[in-house]
Amino acid sequence: MPAPGKGAGHWRRTDGILYPGRDPRTSLHPVPPATDTASVTGCSAGHAARATPHITTPVRPPPKGGGRAASQAQDGGLRRPALGNAPAGRITLEHFPLTDARILVTGVAGFIGAAVARRLLDTGLGVVGIDNLNAYYDVRLKQARLAELAPLPGFTFEKLDLADRAATASAFSRHRPTHVVHLAAQAGVRYSIEHPETYVDSNLVGFGNILEGCRHQKTEHLVYASSSSVYGANTTLPFSVGQNVDHPISLYAATKKANELMAHTYAHLYRLPVTGLRLFTVYGPWGRPDMAAFLFTDAIWHGRPIKVFNNGDMLRDFTYVDDVVDAVLALLPRPAAPDAAWSGARPDPATSAAPYRIYNVGNHAPEPLMALVSQIEDALGRKAKLEMEPMQAGDVKATFADVSALAEAVDFAPRTPLKEGIGRFVAWYRDIYLPRIAGQP
Ligand SMILES: NC(=O)c1ccc[n+]([C@@H]2O[C@H](COP(=O)([O-])OP(=O)(O)OC[C@H]3O[C@@H](n4cnc5c(N)ncnc54)[C@H](O)[C@@H]3O)[C@@H](O)[C@H]2O)c1
Repeated sequence: MPAPGKGAGHWRRTDGILYPGRDPRTSLHPVPPATDTASVTGCSAGHAARATPHITTPVRPPPKGGGRAASQAQDGGLRRPALGNAPAGRITLEHFPLTDARILVTGVAGFIGAAVARRLLDTGLGVVGIDNLNAYYDVRLKQARLAELAPLPGFTFEKLDLADRAATASAFSRHRPTHVVHLAAQAGVRYSIEHPETYVDSNLVGFGNILEGCRHQKTEHLVYASSSSVYGANTTLPFSVGQNVDHPISLYAATKKANELMAHTYAHLYRLPVTGLRLFTVYGPWGRPDMAAFLFTDAIWHGRPIKVFNNGDMLRDFTYVDDVVDAVLALLPRPAAPDAAWSGARPDPATSAAPYRIYNVGNHAPEPLMALVSQIEDALGRKAKLEMEPMQAGDVKATFADVSALAEAVDFAPRTPLKEGIGRFVAWYRDIYLPRIAGQP
């Protein structure tokens, strides 16, 4: 075995914990010369066939004047605030090529799934996308996201309900994904109060089927969406992955916490590398119509009053969608590794002796709800009519992400200011959503 901490097969985190593989912090942002070799080492003992490096391939520099991204730029393909359109400086898998990877993205017609798939496709990777296109919100928006992805080379879509065990198993055996980004879920805190059954079906049964698929196909890495809502009744801010999260206050949150527990079991029993991302209030172009940024924008634009809960006395760590995509792409080629320093006597909730990791993905900059309202007002050039409402059952008053674990792991943290992100969201709403999707020129 190489000497620990000498860079020969191990790297040491700033807190002293030793990890197998190459130090990911040394190679995230700079693009190494074409002759360099990127080696991302997995650790899945149970994945015996790939006990040696999961991904060992020359690092390609970004295309210079060639490649699909460049030709799209020339033909205007990147001019709009398109799905996952990666602005300069954004992470792409050109930094961490997944040669021969077969990537499955679930929830691909959804807000974040479509953005992740777009970035992977723009990078030149193939994506199999799955979604059941349910009617939780306007299906035209889901279809419009798919219509953006459909012409891109390498994209395959399957309409499929992940709660259908046989259909999900069949999809896994046909596509044999090496990497899975699982974003399909029944989202929404408030909806879970009226429709608990859909959360049980999609988030518990569906997640179980994803784990089984990954287990049988010996998937190299499962990255899945958890949620900031798992912090539930916790009040210590910022929320950190080291906190105990045993007090969810909505069924939605309970299903996400359950996903983390189920994932740990598969990491332990089958050595399936799993990384859970606790996402904090994601917003941006192609966003969800049931979330505050969209609801407020739509109401203000049409002159309707907006409902402001808890009299506006709420703080949210609003996270821009491209930052979330960056985090997914940074983590995907790095299968979760066992934490050699993990102790059952003093268990760290965010790591394990199994290949299991939990990260917060937030902006680390909570904003008052009323700041969101005024940013939207400014971007639209219209004033909001406010209707103050009491706190909603199941809602939390404040969210604020401690993203230090993510920063340590991949030297990256989301950092798009709210004003910038809302500007891009409102531009999409006016230029694309209203005329092309809602049919309101
Ligand atoms: N957007 C946020 O602020 C946020 C915050 C925390 C966590 N998350 C999580 O991130 C993930 C993506 O969220 P989003 O905002 O893109 O939501 P979304 O609703 O836009 O996307 C989810 C997609 O999954 C699909 N889906 C749901 N159940 C399915 C099933 N049983 N089979 C197949 N497809 C199914 C839906 O049709 C939808 O297109 C979800 O897991 C969500 O819980 C999102």
